[in-house]
Amino acid sequence: MKFRYPLFVLLFCVFALLAGGRGNQSSAAKERELTATITFNKDIAPIFYKTCAECHRPGEAAPFSVLTYKETRPWAKSIREKVVNRTMPPWHADPHVGEWANDRRLSEKDIALITTWVDSGAKEGAAKDLPPAPTFTEGWTIGKPDVVVSLPEPFTLEANGPDEYQYFEVDPGFKQDVYVQRAEARPDNRRVVHHIIAFIKPPGAAAKTDGQPHPTKEELEKQRAEFERESTQYQDGFLQRTKADAPVHNQGCQLPNGGTGIDRQGKQDGIGDINWLAAYAPGTPPIELPAGTAIRIPAGAKILFQMHYSKVAGSVQKDRSSVGLVFAKQQPEKEMLVRAVSNTYFQIPPGAQNHEVSACWTVPEDLHILSLAPHLHVRGKAQRVEAFYPNGHREVLLDVPNYDFAWQTFYIPKQRKAIPKGTRILVTSLFDNSAKNKFNPDPAKAVRWGEPTYDEMMIGFISYTKDSQNLKDAAVHRNETTSRQ
Ligand code: HEC
Repeated sequence: MKFRYPLFVLLFCVFALLAGGRGNQSSAAKERELTATITFNKDIAPIFYKTCAECHRPGEAAPFSVLTYKETRPWAKSIREKVVNRTMPPWHADPHVGEWANDRRLSEKDIALITTWVDSGAKEGAAKDLPPAPTFTEGWTIGKPDVVVSLPEPFTLEANGPDEYQYFEVDPGFKQDVYVQRAEARPDNRRVVHHIIAFIKPPGAAAKTDGQPHPTKEELEKQRAEFERESTQYQDGFLQRTKADAPVHNQGCQLPNGGTGIDRQGKQDGIGDINWLAAYAPGTPPIELPAGTAIRIPAGAKILFQMHYSKVAGSVQKDRSSVGLVFAKQQPEKEMLVRAVSNTYFQIPPGAQNHEVSACWTVPEDLHILSLAPHLHVRGKAQRVEAFYPNGHREVLLDVPNYDFAWQTFYIPKQRKAIPKGTRILVTSLFDNSAKNKFNPDPAKAVRWGEPTYDEMMIGFISYTKDSQNLKDAAVHRNETTSRQ
């Protein structure tokens, strides 16, 4: 059984060669016989269920469902084209660098099978051959959530105007620390939700939205003026952006903070670890952590939704997106942390085709990487993540030569990657600000960092665990302390 497909493909090629131009009756007949054996139900559905159904099912982002033959058949030609040129399934990393648990790429064998299936008339086959369709729980990829946290009420988005970043704070009501094993952000209105990032706001952290006690209007103005004077950034309506005249550093590694910050001297670490919970954007998988690792939401924490909305011209829209959480069944040992290795000081000259921007992070203690995710906007062209180890060795951890903004993929290594203390992580990205880039909204403009998609970002997200951390011991210790009191 194991050798059936390669053998078949080989045989098919031989027959195709033999049959070519000579009208060889018996070969052609044999070829027909062979191709007739490839059917949706028997050969193709298992591939599509495994590799495509994640997105190609009702209610998801892709334009058609592969769950049934009837829905798939009209797309056969397009499927052939997209799998042969490898635009589907989406995957943009160089396959020679690293081994990825979520690698979606089809094998050559599967591509050959799909091509032959389409070329031989995309047959359905016998009903008995169809494997059971994969099951999904009410749209949640993570299974039934233990808790669903939604925006407090439907948000109304006006019909016209620029993109909006809106922040919503929700109290999930956790009275004690909870550990989340799986987390998924789900858009309610896919027509307007460009992306969702749900952050954890620990108790006591400054509120982005509620600002208690309410400062007066004058105080707010004063705070804002002060912030804008000191900072390299300013608030443009709903959107934060780097000022056009802020100091320019394309090589963030030359700054003390590695490129991540908003102070003019590049000294302060502007972001640090971010309290990441879940995100949605096309291609972003839900967070599903291995046993023993979880995201910690401290007692009393709020969930902060960062919603990036794009408007539907001429039509008022509503949205009430959610995050679903599945709790760890046992006390985990480690907490997932997320670092944004980012440059906020760069400037891409008008028309530049291959503009390089870098950022650095020197790892402060031994850790293990869980995933890597490049984030650039529409001028983003490529990103490479490299490790310079204390022993002098260099290793490329991730190479994405054809970055595509439409796909926000997290690359999850098959084995957690050990990174010793003192390693310098270098993130290098290329941008194409020329007219050749068909997604470029304005090649005549110098481009800086900013939240809107017409500005740029340069981030290498790294999610990781600290080797020194053992929450299990800490929990036992805590319990002992409480029981002694
Ligand atoms: C991570 C999500 C995802 C996966 C996995 C995925 N697709 Fe898609 N696919 C999409 C989305 C979203 C679109 C529409 C946007 C686009 O074309 O880029 C699309 C578009 C397509 C189209 C083009 C439809 C058209 O408009 O012509 C085809 C064909 C296709 N996918 C086939 C497949 C096949 C076959 C697989 C599996 C082998 C697959 N896709 C896997 C998300 C996905």
